[in-house]
Amino acid sequence: MSEQLIISGGDKNDKYIALLQQLPALLDERVDNVANMSNLVAALKQTFGFFWVGFYRVQADELVLGPFQGPIACTRINKGQGVCGITWQEERTMIIPNVHEFPGHIACSDKSKSEIVVPLFKEGKLVAVLDVDSDEFANFDEVDKSQLENILEWFSAYY
Ligand code: SME
Repeated sequence: MSEQLIISGGDKNDKYIALLQQLPALLDERVDNVANMSNLVAALKQTFGFFWVGFYRVQADELVLGPFQGPIACTRINKGQGVCGITWQEERTMIIPNVHEFPGHIACSDKSKSEIVVPLFKEGKLVAVLDVDSDEFANFDEVDKSQLENILEWFSAYY
């Protein structure tokens, strides 16, 4: 277990690669969900300075707020509601360049301008979504999608 994260320069893709290399040292092999989700979102926040990054977990018929970094957020989201709820319903990553133009977006903060939501699968079942919000418009692209999907695919062994 390391408590250090070193990301030195490079473009966004380089940073994701550096982060992924160090993640095993930041996570608990005994697989405590909360500990591992907490360190993953903290590492993402520390690396990229995202406005808000956190998990919503499937609990019965709702998504419930999990570990996150950023301002306080809504605690429960229904299936099909907002970007997170649609990601759950459709089981695919969603990139929203301008949340103000997205019908049904749940505005936890008026500072949030764009977002990406990525599903987390465990043994083929969607168990949570990772929600990343930016205070800039159009801040997420295919690099974020493929790298975050990659990270979550790897992370599923720690969940
Ligand atoms: N953006 C989400 C709601 C959660 S907050 O932004 C943290 C959505 O519309 O699903």
